[in-house]
Amino acid sequence: MRYKDLHTLSVENPRFFWRQRMELIDWYEKPEKVLYEDEDGLYRWYRGGKLNTSYLALDYHVDHGRGRQVALYFDSAVTHTKRRYTYRELRDEVALFAGALRGQGVGKGDRVIIYMPMIPEAAIAMLACARLGAVHSVVFGGFAPHELAVRIDDAKPKCLITATCGIEFANVIDYKPLVDAALAEAEFPPESVIVFPRPHAKAGMKEGRDHDWHDLMHDAEPADPVPVDAADPLYILYTSGTTGKPKGVVRDNGGHAVALKYSMKTVYNINPGEVFWAASDVGWVVGHSYIVYGPLIHGCSTVLYEGKPVRTPDAGALWRVIADYKVSAFFTAPTAFRAIKKEDPDAHLKRLYDISSLRTLYLAGERLDPPTYEWLSQILDVPIVDHWWQTETGWPIVANPMGLEPHRVKSGSASFPVPGFKVEVLDDEGQPVATGEMGNIVIKLPLPPGCLPNLWQDTAGFKQAYLERFPGYYDTSDGGYIDQDGYVFIMGRTDDVINVAGHRLSTGEMEELIGGHAAVAECAVVGIDDQLKGQIPIGLVVLKDGVDVETAKLEAELIALIRAEIGAVAAFRKAMVVQRLPKTRSGKILRKTIRRLAVEEQIITPPTIDDPAIISEIRTALRKHRVGQYANLPAAEPVGDDV
Ligand code: COA
Ligand code: AMP
Repeated sequence: MRYKDLHTLSVENPRFFWRQRMELIDWYEKPEKVLYEDEDGLYRWYRGGKLNTSYLALDYHVDHGRGRQVALYFDSAVTHTKRRYTYRELRDEVALFAGALRGQGVGKGDRVIIYMPMIPEAAIAMLACARLGAVHSVVFGGFAPHELAVRIDDAKPKCLITATCGIEFANVIDYKPLVDAALAEAEFPPESVIVFPRPHAKAGMKEGRDHDWHDLMHDAEPADPVPVDAADPLYILYTSGTTGKPKGVVRDNGGHAVALKYSMKTVYNINPGEVFWAASDVGWVVGHSYIVYGPLIHGCSTVLYEGKPVRTPDAGALWRVIADYKVSAFFTAPTAFRAIKKEDPDAHLKRLYDISSLRTLYLAGERLDPPTYEWLSQILDVPIVDHWWQTETGWPIVANPMGLEPHRVKSGSASFPVPGFKVEVLDDEGQPVATGEMGNIVIKLPLPPGCLPNLWQDTAGFKQAYLERFPGYYDTSDGGYIDQDGYVFIMGRTDDVINVAGHRLSTGEMEELIGGHAAVAECAVVGIDDQLKGQIPIGLVVLKDGVDVETAKLEAELIALIRAEIGAVAAFRKAMVVQRLPKTRSGKILRKTIRRLAVEEQIITPPTIDDPAIISEIRTALRKHRVGQYANLPAAEPVGDDV
């Protein structure tokens, strides 16, 4: 069936469509009902189905002739290590570590926090939790102790798994002190901590609480997969929302396995036995879906890469990995290629590697900006596929369905809704907009399998964040339009979420932290366009009356505050003191105006602004701090005509 017919069938008769697709995976017990509503009135998939995700990702393949196929290639450009695990070896490691976790009292439904660098043990820990029916929550290693503590307190884990260190370029980052600080801050710390020792760092261990990974493995008995219900949670992944409290996105077992299996062929056009590489981090949704679960459930070989696109050792790193493992489908964020383009604009380093195995390049995590798309089109002769999705959906919403019917690419568009997703554009009153007009991008309910059924123990928050604004729809909080040919263009978030180098962060959270500083009366943090990272946050602060503080010192304190509380990954490097913030007459901060002031020569002063004179004051501050279009000005403090 062609794309259009299949998509229509999927949204007009989702029960029929997803009943057929549930046959893609091997259930212990087949579901008796495909789609139903739970006690909270929320849609759920595959009632009565019993399965185990670790079985599907490992044992199933061992039992069906893939035992000797490589399941996972580990490539660490920072430690110069290469390792490979066959499906049998990975299954055995996972089974043993699941036994070790069971020895720590972890069972079905218990939560386990995983705070790990990009090493195979991170994937082993995730799959071991899945094997026991325990619920993992991976926390990105770039987050500071406070962020880890917040997640610990929400998930209330029985156990936390970490390693002695991560390695960022040449910097060894000791993880254990960060974990210890988070455990000291948390109200509900776990009883047990498992530490994987890396040779590059040692960790202080607390007697009775902390355990060495190898010691536990030595004494463990392998554990078999535990059957779970389709609706049982597989994991919680916390993601940034509009406030300081991250949202605990829940993923179930049944819908997730079916959706990922379906996406591997439909979206990524990849076959079992081929090599799939997503250059991301297990701490993000891309890592969950397309480093670990998707490729393994599909019987592919996945690549787990510890390194960067540049300086590990050079801008040829990604080409080298594609060549070394004969990668067929490669997926990363556009920011990675912007970093490469900056260092190797003519892609000279690509010529050193045979990347003829590569069939398709996939990009997501942020908008594929047309200049990056053009550059990639010039240096590669494979299709370049932009696709749009979110932590919440777990798999692509809009994509060029390469395994179904590849379409002509329109630069700037992620192409068409994937079967299962009915995408519409509504105005602020909930009415459909005209073709080509910008509005709020929404998805008609029910969301297909694989998407979040709820937030962790926060049904009210789930409804409020996603379902209440546009009844009958899931609100994506992305804005954009659909053109006359049906192509979807995603233009950016409509809330306080920004994407910094593909990392999702909340400006609202940064404002809460800065607003808590003793000298600050009010502040605005906005994401402004950045050539490398896509967006970076900047802060504008107004001091409390009578506060006498050296502004340079305050700025340094605020930068250090964000780094300490959220993490280096926030890339918050500019905080500037201003007399006032631009506001509407009703007192709403004009964040969009600040963003535009940073990047556009001429802006029209918004008619709702309470005091037009403020525009030139903000512009002066941006110049002084060399933000956005002023970034390359000489260091001397400019005296502008609008001062
Ligand atoms: N653990 C600890 N610290 C981390 C970290 C981790 N897992 N990940 C990032 N950081 C730190 C970095 O070391 C850096 O610290 P610094 O301020 O002391 O230099 C800071 O967080 C910012 O990191 P990042 O935004 O990644 O910038 P970068 O300059 O280190 O690298 C890129 C820039 C473009 C090379 C990098 O972001 C990248 O490879 N992106 C690829 C896309 C990607 O992985 N996206 C994820 C979603 S698909
Ligand atoms: P995350 O939850 O970290 O995956 O971030 C999701 C957000 O990233 C989306 O809501 C979008 O704002 C943005 N995003 C992801 N992929 C794309 C894309 N292909 N085009 C435009 N924006 C994207």
